Amino acid sequence: MTFLSIDALSKRYGSVSALDDVSLCIGAGGRTAIVGPSGSGKTTLLRMLAGFDVPQSGRIMLDGRLLVDGTSAVPPHLRDVGLVMQDGALFPHLTVAENIGFGLPGHTRSQVEAIAELSDMVGLNPSMLSRTPDALSGGQQQRVALARALARRPKLMLLDEPFSALDTGLRSSTRMAIANLLQSAGVTTLLVTHDQAEALSFADHVAIMDSGKILQAGPPRELYFRPKTAMIATFLGDAIILPAVLSHGRANCALGSVEIDEPRWSGWADIMFRPEQIALTGDTSGARGKVLDVEFAGAVSNVTLTVTGHSGPPIVLRQPSSISVAPGDEIGFAIAGRAHAFAAANVAESAAQD
Ligand SMILES: Nc1ncnc2c1ncn2[C@@H]1O[C@H](COP(=O)(O)OP(=O)(O)O)[C@@H](O)[C@H]1O
Ligand SMILES: [Mg+2]
Repeated sequence: MTFLSIDALSKRYGSVSALDDVSLCIGAGGRTAIVGPSGSGKTTLLRMLAGFDVPQSGRIMLDGRLLVDGTSAVPPHLRDVGLVMQDGALFPHLTVAENIGFGLPGHTRSQVEAIAELSDMVGLNPSMLSRTPDALSGGQQQRVALARALARRPKLMLLDEPFSALDTGLRSSTRMAIANLLQSAGVTTLLVTHDQAEALSFADHVAIMDSGKILQAGPPRELYFRPKTAMIATFLGDAIILPAVLSHGRANCALGSVEIDEPRWSGWADIMFRPEQIALTGDTSGARGKVLDVEFAGAVSNVTLTVTGHSGPPIVLRQPSSISVAPGDEIGFAIAGRAHAFAAANVAESAAQD
């Protein structure tokens, strides 16, 4: 059931279209991520949801309640929406306890008890409560910001690139901790980020945004393996895109005849593999290529190669570093899973094949 519904939201700043007819539905209790490059309109969308700005047109409904209808809008403090910003935006002159307490409405229980419970919930040590934010690490500051936002018991939590200032290790552990915490608290969460790996791992529903528009939305696996366009494919990760001829559920391409995910399509189209779908083998009796370069990157190596009979640019595959290949080697290809076919104007759809 739809919990948050964003309907045809538009916002211009002068000549810039920050949001262009944005529509999105989010179910209760889920985790959604919006991923897009810098300047694509992510923060603008969250500002509209939090109530810090109003659109020129469109509607927002949260849990059956109309929050925004064109330019008329419910004020931020009456929305049951929490927001955590990139830098945490803590009050530097207040202690951690005071920062968390700032979010508390007039509760019947004592503030002290509520603050202790919230800090425990986000995994902050009680000894930190008397410190000021400058005596905390970036990850701890983000937990304080989250505790402050949770104090209002929001129905919807908005996270605006909250992990981007943290370094890699801390980033994924903080992300996982916060995801689990919000899930168990039953708070519907919307994360915006420019980091596609973060979006794909955090959320059960992902939307791609560019230039104020939602380009595609769906489950992470669906977007990663079945992107609508080559641009979305490459935004979400490395992709090997090859021209092919489709027929009877297969594509004929430089890597040979491969199974595709659109069994009813026929004609010319581009197809896509993720680099990890293609393994190198010693069997060169089928599709084969020549290694140009091997870049060691720890667990995996990036192997650049030409595909025999393919005039396009070299392809780059990720291979376990344990396999040994060197520039000049002739190798064969083994393909796992199906290739994704992009819709093209000249692709015909036939009746379902048996
Ligand atoms: N208050 C504002 N005044 C003018 N332009 C703005 C304002 N807020 C955002 N923009 C513009 O709207 C676009 C989207 O910005 P933003 O929502 O911050 O993107 P993101 O968060 O995806 O990086 C950008 O081109 C930005 O410069
Ligand atoms: Mg932003």
